[in-house]
Order: sequence, then C-alpha cells, then structure tokens
Amino acid sequence: MPDTPRPTLTQAQGAPSSRMLATGSVRGSRVVSNEEMCTMIDSTPEWIQQRTGITERRWATAEETPRSMAVEAARKALAKAGLEPSQVDAIVIATVSHHRPSPSLATYVAHDLGSIGAAAFDINAACAGFCYCTSLADSMIRSGSATHILVIGVEKLSEMTNIADRGTAFLFSDGAGAVLFGPSQTSAVGPAVWGSAADKVETIEIEDWTQVADHPRVSHPLIAMDGRNVFKWAMTSVVRKAGEAIAEAGITPTDLDAFIPHQANDRITDAMLRHLKLPESVEVCHDIADMGNTSAASIPIAIDRMLERGQVHSGDLALIIGFGAGLVFAGQVVVLP
Ligand code: UT7
Repeated sequence: MPDTPRPTLTQAQGAPSSRMLATGSVRGSRVVSNEEMCTMIDSTPEWIQQRTGITERRWATAEETPRSMAVEAARKALAKAGLEPSQVDAIVIATVSHHRPSPSLATYVAHDLGSIGAAAFDINAACAGFCYCTSLADSMIRSGSATHILVIGVEKLSEMTNIADRGTAFLFSDGAGAVLFGPSQTSAVGPAVWGSAADKVETIEIEDWTQVADHPRVSHPLIAMDGRNVFKWAMTSVVRKAGEAIAEAGITPTDLDAFIPHQANDRITDAMLRHLKLPESVEVCHDIADMGNTSAASIPIAIDRMLERGQVHSGDLALIIGFGAGLVFAGQVVVLP
C-alpha cells in the first residue's frame, strides 16, 4: 500500500504582541476595621497593622457574590475600552471562591455580560492566578486563538475565613479586578517567571466540601495557612523570582515605573523592594492597607485603583508578581493600560 499523503494542518497566526487595554474593579462594600476585627479575635489593631500593614479590609455582603463582582468589574473595563461584550473572544477567571465544580464561573459571567459565544473557563492558581492568566492571555493573543480577552481575578474570601484562627482571620478580603487584553504591535507583556514549590503543597489549604459535610459547624470550606512558613518562602524564593522577571523582560530595575506585587503582607513587599534595590522613583503598591488580601483579585484591583488615583499612568512599566497556595508563583513586567 503506497503511503497516502497526510494533510498539513493550518496554524493560527496571532498579533505580534498583546497588551492590557483597560481595567475595572469592585470592592466588597462592608468596611471591616482592625478595631472591629479585634472584637472577633484575640488581637490588637496595632499588632495587625505592624505585622501586615492592614488597617481595614473589605467584606462583601450576601448580595455581592463572586459572580456579581466579576460582572461589575468586567463591565467597567469594557466601558473604558469602548468594547461591546459581544466583541470579547474569551473570558478567563482566576478564583478559588467559585463553589460549583461546574459550570465555570467564567460561563456565568459570559452569560450575564452577554458575551455569548466567548470561550470561558476558570483557572486555580490561588494568589498567583492573575499573573498566570496574564501569561495565558498573552499566549492566546499571540497564537491567534483570541483577539480580546477578559481576565478577571475575583474572590470572596470572607466566607472561607476561619474566625476561630487568630493567625489568619484578619488577612482576607473580597473584591474583583478585570483587565481587558487585546492585540498590540509592540511588546507589552514580558515573559512570565512562574512555577511552584509543590513540596510545600500543604502550607496553605482550603478544606474540601466533604470536610464541611462531615463537620456541619460551618457553611463553607475554611482556609488554613501556616503563615510563618509561607512568609519565609516568600521572603527567600519569591523575592528572587521577582528579580528574574525583570531580567527576563530585558530591563533593569531602574527602568520600572511601578511595583505591584500580590497584596499578602507589606513586610513581604518591603523585603522585595530591598532585594530588588528599586529606585525611590518606583511607585510601590500598598493597597493592602485598606483592602486586605484578596488573593487572585489583589493585583488587578490594585492596578485599577492606582490608575484611577493617578499613582501610575498609561504606558508605565510595572512589575507584577503573585504567590500563594500550591505553593505557586508567577510574575512578569507589563505595560499598564
Ligand atoms: O496570600 C497568600 C500568601 N500568603 C502570605 O504570603 C502570608 C504570609 N504570612 C504572613 O503574612 C504572616 O505569617 C502572618 C501575618 C500571617 C503572621 O505574622 P507573623 O509575623 O508570621 O506571626 P507568627 O505567626 O510568627 O506569630 C508571631 C506571634 C506568635 O506568638 P509567639 O509564639 O511568638 O508567642 C503568635 O501566637 O504572634 C502571635 N499571634 C498573634 N498575636 C496577636 C498570631 N496571631 C496573632 C494575632 N494577634 N492576631
């Protein structure tokens, strides 16, 4: 039998590069001060502020769900870009707060926005989720599988907070940040430095639903974290990865305009600053002060707020880096929208 020639598959061709086009964000509407927190746990407002930089956090109301917050943030980003929901090719959501194994939160958001037909899926990379999705969106646009992508980080961590654990209860918060990505002629998303320290997989965990069923004391799986060990890992390994992300982008720290790390602890941010030797001129994100830790939502919320407040500007070069449960990390240099 002679060999029949096999067809050659067509390969999609994308844009030369991708870029962030517009942002939107929403924060849980209930302000929970350190003073109020200390009516729930054995602590002091000063201890919380000194150990983390947090003075208050945002908790969503019962009506503010991951779905509603993601939709609101996405609508704001689309409005700023002047793009219709029908023009979105893909919606990618980074979250650990969606309680349904299926369908994904992204499909509910596509439904509510009216982006019917868009590719839609969630990813779980915990607090590194937004940076994982940034790399993914960039690859999708350059490979030609999508032109406009909504990347959304959203969390409602208040309902998974273990109020009986004074070592973590004061950290977590609720909100959503959306970033619209689109094609670009010039490079505006640097290579991702990403990976995991999976030997530390049990350092931060959210209970599974069977544990809730076995112990009907709570309505949701709760977060458990060995904070001290996560802190040590972040201060040693993640700080080095931040430096690598700058080098991979082909720039030096003095080229940066902004540093927007995951908002886990201001002491970690400060350690990164010292390690990277960032010049005074670099605008550093301290969103944690009135926002707490919103995991996958912290970086997109911070970008949106810093742009709104004029702390950073369109075209600025920013280093973003996320790290969290897994343990996983991802960081890259981006051009702000
Ligand atoms: O977002 C995902 C990634 N997450 C992170 O990166 C979080 C990383 N970890 C942290 O940010 C910090 O570990 C925490 C803020 C969670 C805790 O701060 P710490 O400085 O690491 O405190 P620690 O757990 O080492 O505790 C120090 C002391 C202990 O007392 P002893 O053993 O020294 O007597 C704790 O019992 O502080 C005590 N403590 C508290 N005291 C007052 C623990 N929680 C509290 C509290 N109020 N709420």
